Formats: sequence, structure tokens, C-alpha cells
Amino acid sequence: VFSNVLVATDGSECAERALESAIDMVKVSNGKLTIMHVLELPPTVGIGKTLTAKVVRFYTNDAKAFLEEQQHEAKTRGVDAGTILAKSGSPAKAILSTAKSRKMDLIVVGSRGLGGVKGLLLGSVSNAIVHSAKISVLVTK
Ligand SMILES: Nc1ncnc2c1ncn2[C@@H]1O[C@H](COP(=O)(O)OP(=O)(O)O)[C@@H](O)[C@H]1O
Ligand SMILES: [Mg+2]
Repeated sequence: VFSNVLVATDGSECAERALESAIDMVKVSNGKLTIMHVLELPPTVGIGKTLTAKVVRFYTNDAKAFLEEQQHEAKTRGVDAGTILAKSGSPAKAILSTAKSRKMDLIVVGSRGLGGVKGLLLGSVSNAIVHSAKISVLVTK
């Protein structure tokens, strides 16, 4: 059984199913659930601008509110979950290093996310996690 579960969500439909499965897992194991989101700020390369503090704050507040909603969702399904908002770095790296430092024993991700490349079975984040994780990974469809 998995007792320390990390679910990564980008708000996509697939990630919604990842949350549902993660909730089911910790209910079975009576374990701990942590919901993680990695902030993906809009790219500025090529437009000759940098993000102002105000814009960064906007995205950060939005992400915090999103995580609170996800936490609430878990709560209504009977699970008290913790949340983590990572503010920089590639999503896969941030998720993998959090899983390691917090001694998680399962990572749950959606197979696809918000990105639009059709035809791929796995997105780049889920692909990198499945490839590099030293612990079990549950990929929801
Ligand atoms: N920024 C993010 N923060 C947390 N989890 C993420 C993030 N981006 C992707 N994920 C996780 O990885 C899964 C697959 O997404 P991704 O690999 O980015 O596919 P796509 O290329 O379709 O966007 C998502 O369902 C989610 O579980
Ligand atoms: Mg993506």
C-alpha cells in the first residue's frame, strides 16, 4: 500500500482524474495526500519584456486559489490533503525533487495535461516523471 502520495495537477481533465485516483489510494491505505502544482508563468522570450511583479503575483494568487479548490475537493471526499505550490523550475523536476525530499512512495499524474500536442500518449511532464522517478507512478487516462 502507498501511504505517502503526491498528486501533481495542472488543472486539466486528466489531472482531475489523477486527483480522484490519488484520493482513492490514500483512503485504502489510510495514508497522507499532498496536492502539488508547479507555477508555469507565460513565456517572455522573444517579446522583449520581463514579467512585472504584479503579473507574477496575479499568477501566484490564481495558483493558490486553484490549490485551495483542489484541497476542498479532497476534503469533500473525506481526505485531508496538504498542498504545495512550486514557483519555479520545470514541473517534472520540481515534482520529482519534492517526491524525493518528502519521502513520497507514489506519484499520481495524468497522462496528458493542458498542452495541445495531439496524438501523444504522454505529455512531457508525465513522460519525464515516469522515466526518472525512483518510486511508483500512477498515470491516469
Ligand atoms: N505545472 C504542473 N504542475 C503540476 N502538475 C503538472 C503540471 N504540468 C503537468 N502536470 C501533471 O502532468 C500531467 C501531464 O501533463 P503534461 O505532461 O504537461 O501533458 P501536456 O503536454 O498534454 O500538457 C498532468 O495531467 C498533471 O498531472
Ligand atoms: Mg503540460
